[in-house]
Amino acid sequence: MVKTHPMWNNFPSIQRLLLECLELIIEKTTIENKEIEQTVINMIESQGKLLRPAYFLLFSQLGNATQEAHKKIIAAAASTEVLHLATLIHDDIIDESSMRRGSETVQSKHGKDVAVYTGDLLISVYFDLLADATDSVDIIKLNTQSMKRVLMGEINQMTNVYNTDITYTDYLKSIKGKTAQLFELSCYEGAYLGQCDPEIIEKSRSIGQNIGIAFQMLDDILDYTQTPESLSKPVLNDVKQGIYTLPLILGLEANKEAFLPLLNKGEDLTDSDLAALVSLLHENHCIERARAIAQTYIETALTSIDKLPSHPEKDVLYSLTKTLLTRDY
Ligand code: IPE
Ligand code: IPE
Ligand code: MG
Ligand code: MG
Repeated sequence: MVKTHPMWNNFPSIQRLLLECLELIIEKTTIENKEIEQTVINMIESQGKLLRPAYFLLFSQLGNATQEAHKKIIAAAASTEVLHLATLIHDDIIDESSMRRGSETVQSKHGKDVAVYTGDLLISVYFDLLADATDSVDIIKLNTQSMKRVLMGEINQMTNVYNTDITYTDYLKSIKGKTAQLFELSCYEGAYLGQCDPEIIEKSRSIGQNIGIAFQMLDDILDYTQTPESLSKPVLNDVKQGIYTLPLILGLEANKEAFLPLLNKGEDLTDSDLAALVSLLHENHCIERARAIAQTYIETALTSIDKLPSHPEKDVLYSLTKTLLTRDY
């Protein structure tokens, strides 16, 4: 029996639909090599937060789509999660990460080659689900464009590795692509395929973008403040990879001389260097300042959600978005 992350126990209407998405994803993910198939199925079942399909479904519920469209809505929502899964498998290769969703990563279990192919294979499952969901060329084009923007965001991030002159603007550009793009797509596609009123369709994009930006900022903060147990993935990984995220960018802006001796060590940061770096971030109030910035993006999204026409699922959309700010998982 598939289960969702416990966070969904508070939102049973969406939980039910997310379970349908998970079952469909498992049905569509068939790999001849059963050992590799099992690794991927385990990853699907291991209680990721399912935020992208959830935002898709919440927006679709605000519309006028008939019950006949139900299967297509589920397939499209599922496709957003599958694209996300593919990017996670590839991201873990690049980050040389050993843990994802509390289990060994595909790369660490089966090696890099299998991980590259498995990520690619999931991209084919993503297109398969999308084709089941819609014959709108506009939606296919939109997905292609979004996928391209995700990758441009990742490439942009790579061009800034170990760059101690990185700015907030550089950072925002990367995260708008690599993360916010998929949230934007999920909200918009949900509103569009759910046949929402044009006013909602139009607002869905910026709501998704603001949520996505804040979500990545919070992920970047949690990398400095949490444990591998609470996040089900390694921590303090970004700085070791030369990815300088919001808290550190704020630190560099405020007090560069203090951070440079540590950052100049590049990949050779020891555990005690990392502990010193975290202390510096706290001393310079970088964590709370980063959190305040993330909060402004969440608040912008909440203000727009609040203005949407009244609907029971609108309240779910509002409370879910609010809880993102306080998550520690
Ligand atoms: C991880 O995304 C990658 C980021 C964009 C930060 P999630 O935090 O949504 O990962 P899962 O799906 O819950 O595992
Ligand atoms: C998310 O960034 C990258 C993707 C969009 C897949 P991170 O590199 O911060 O994600 P985690 O922290 O490994 O989950
Ligand atoms: Mg990563
Ligand atoms: Mg991260």
